[in-house]
Amino acid sequence: MTTVLYPGSFDPIHLGHLDVIEQAMELFGDVVVATMHNPSKPSGMFTLDERIAMIEESVEPLRAGHIGTVRVVAFPGLAVDAARSEHADFIVKGLRTGGDFEVEQQMAQTNYAAAGVRTVYVPCKPALVFISSRFIREIAKYGGDVTAMVPAAVVPQLTRAAQRDQG
Ligand code: PNS
Repeated sequence: MTTVLYPGSFDPIHLGHLDVIEQAMELFGDVVVATMHNPSKPSGMFTLDERIAMIEESVEPLRAGHIGTVRVVAFPGLAVDAARSEHADFIVKGLRTGGDFEVEQQMAQTNYAAAGVRTVYVPCKPALVFISSRFIREIAKYGGDVTAMVPAAVVPQLTRAAQRDQG
């Protein structure tokens, strides 16, 4: 079985992320979802613990499907160090658009140059490519409906976090 690390901010996890996790479980077997800090996104909506709790709840149906294994961890430092510490064979990233490719390719090449850790891309399901955590946070903040974009477990948490941010 191959172990892969899927790092991200997951603020919050959405259906596009879940699709990548499911594809990675099918393709490689053992997926470690690493909730990381993204230095270019300092002001998140959810705490690390909240993000992890939502990921855990969202991947539960995948675990029940027995297509592979999935573990959820938090990691404070570099993605390559998380990959090493979790004994991952490589990093997996989802690609939605060419814009994602530009960003991901630079990170993948940097991670390989710095630490010899390779990255493999998984194309997102076409029906989900428009989804982004940033717009989900924005819609939720103004009381909009994001049920088509996030796992069911995330919907009430978004409502709660939006109310908390206003209070
Ligand atoms: O979901 P995101 O915000 O697009 O994920 C980006 C993330 C967290 C995977 C990226 O910022 C990252 O790997 N952060 C950890 C720090 C790191 O390894 N930096 C070097 C990148 S080449």
